[in-house]
Amino acid sequence: MMIEISAADRVFILTGAGISAESGIPTFRGAGGIWRTYRVEEVASPHAWQRDPAMVWEFYSMRRRAAGAAKPNPGHFALAALESKLGERLFLCTQNVDNLHEQAGSRRAVHMHGELFKSRCDTCRRPPFDDSRTYEPRAEIPRCECGGQIRPHICWFGEVPYDLDRIFQALSDCTVFLAVGTSGVVEPAASFVARARGRARTYYVGPEEPANASAFTKSFLGKSGGLLPNLFDCK
Ligand code: OAD
Repeated sequence: MMIEISAADRVFILTGAGISAESGIPTFRGAGGIWRTYRVEEVASPHAWQRDPAMVWEFYSMRRRAAGAAKPNPGHFALAALESKLGERLFLCTQNVDNLHEQAGSRRAVHMHGELFKSRCDTCRRPPFDDSRTYEPRAEIPRCECGGQIRPHICWFGEVPYDLDRIFQALSDCTVFLAVGTSGVVEPAASFVARARGRARTYYVGPEEPANASAFTKSFLGKSGGLLPNLFDCK
């Protein structure tokens, strides 16, 4: 069975860490997950940044190194190909901070949890800027012109995800909703399917049912790199 997409459909796709798993980037939960090794509140929260910015930078430097070496897999390429067919009828929203959707050719992915290869000031409104530097232990935290400290452009726990207005608009416009490789436990993304349900056909792709499985019309169980390239039937 495939997901049929007609000329009248508007498609919302939400991706999570699972889509990058086959590219060698660890997921957060489950065996080998990042949150099995690190405590979220010690490396990914405003409190951690206040207390020990060097430790936060060490964590994101490690993640920059891992993601910097990764290449997109057939799942990312399949979504980029779908974007080139559907144009603005596809809204691609990712919880991932890697740039594998862009490397695969997606031009308009919305990064609701930020981007690993961008940084910003923790004090002023200077916009986020491209930054792939890594920081050595005990190095000084770089400063903005305003005197603030430069932090990763990441949505930490307790912070509000980015672009929610555009995301909620796209959710209310969509007729097909597909979540890929996300465990369905982190809000607000876990509730996106409930917003789309009713109007939209809702699908999930991943090796196991997510926590919010009951909100999906159908789950396609398997790895996204194997399933996505043959999943869409565009009329
Ligand atoms: P999780 O680590 O919670 O879930 C990853 C999901 O990917 C699981 O449901 C796996 O079954 C699935 N998966 C594993 N391998 C896969 C494969 N080859 N193909 C498809 N799916 C596969 O990751 P997320 O749900 O993305 O937030 O986590 C959500 C947020 O929690 C993250 O964005 C991050 C984290 O804390 C922040 O850092 C703000």
